[in-house]
Amino acid sequence: MRVICVAGARPNYMKIKPVMDALEERGAEVILVHTGQHYDPAMNDVFFTDLAIRQPDYFLGAGPGSHAAQTGRVMTAFEPLAGQVRPDTVVVVGDVNSTMACALVTAKSGALLAHVEAGLRSRDWSMPEEINRVVTDRVSDYLFAPSADAVGNLQAEGYRDDQIHLAGNVMADTLLANIDRATSGGTLSRLGLKPGGYGLATLHRPANVDDPAVLVPMIRALGEVARLCPLVLPAHPRAADRLHSAGVSSQIRVIPPAGYLDFIALQASARLVLTDSGGVQEETTILGVPCLTLRDNTERPITLTEGTNQLVGRDPASIIAAARGVLTDPPAPRRPALWDGHAAQRIAAALLAGTQAGGRLRPTAIPVAAGAHPG
Ligand code: UD1
Ligand code: UDP
Repeated sequence: MRVICVAGARPNYMKIKPVMDALEERGAEVILVHTGQHYDPAMNDVFFTDLAIRQPDYFLGAGPGSHAAQTGRVMTAFEPLAGQVRPDTVVVVGDVNSTMACALVTAKSGALLAHVEAGLRSRDWSMPEEINRVVTDRVSDYLFAPSADAVGNLQAEGYRDDQIHLAGNVMADTLLANIDRATSGGTLSRLGLKPGGYGLATLHRPANVDDPAVLVPMIRALGEVARLCPLVLPAHPRAADRLHSAGVSSQIRVIPPAGYLDFIALQASARLVLTDSGGVQEETTILGVPCLTLRDNTERPITLTEGTNQLVGRDPASIIAAARGVLTDPPAPRRPALWDGHAAQRIAAALLAGTQAGGRLRPTAIPVAAGAHPG
């Protein structure tokens, strides 16, 4: 079985690595395609080093740009490559533009398409990722859901049961495989931090960082939180300049984007995490660390109901009140079912079984009413 695995942006690498390993352990020929959506050493190279991901077999060099330009560049470069490599299956992960671009090409190519992290829904159409998720799921043959709520979303949208696989969370596979290495690597002492002596913050969603009218009050709220517990903020390149213009309080230590092992170490020993990241909501739940999500919705509600996450929104008073709350009364650690470190094994087994059975799984028609997106 020949499989193309696609990655290209920071949150892809930790998802694709265990899937590649599990496929190769079962004898599949794995071809790694890097779209080039992220390219800075701190957003890209460090993850290859930290996670021991081998160099990509093909590099599409998409780079930055508008949604149409970036998506189009990935599609234009991926189409001839897929034609040349002729994979049995293409695996895409997550919800970034690279995911949807390669999904659309694959759907018209004759190869089977597998979506890892299928079925997540924020029901917020202003999020580019929501469009990427819905489109990718719609053209996928295999829908690998991380949690039962994601399975429920897919069923409600009319997907067939034989397409939907409750696989568990591949982010947990990578986190559990690397936690000991991460926490023994000296990250905290290098940064002069003490376990439990700081909070961690990340912000990069366009809805939070692109408009100063939204960002400035949020940064002021983080400044208030930092008076209770000093904050470390590894700044995504999208946000870095804007954070500085917004006037960050001296209690917030802005550092460059952290590598994977450093960032896991920072999460594991934080008193609280404030974030708008998708993956960080999951990792804090796995680590049992309190997380405040600075968004109005989440595509990962399982982290609210079966984890340590709290949806706080963007209102400064709510952020400060929630931070006070978890600092005095942290939530009890809990972990959703199948976030057990073996999701990629289940995915690889299903892909191999599907290939042996042959045939196309994509539905020819989903009834319009059932297929309508419930948001
Ligand atoms: C993308 C994903 C988002 C994900 C985030 C993870 C989409 C629509 N968005 O958002 O879902 O949460 O990655 O980090 O796919 N830049 C650099 N260096 C880099 C990469 C980006 O400087 O290595 C800067 C560029 O100015 C670029 C901007 O960041 O224009 C945005 O990058 P882009 O990949 O388009 O979107 P992200 O905001 O990173
Ligand atoms: N991450 C990291 N360094 C950072 C911030 C995040 O290694 O400075 C990791 C984090 O541990 C998680 C992933 O990046 O595994 C989440 O990616 P990101 O927040 O960029 O994207 P999202 O999950 O929101 O799509």
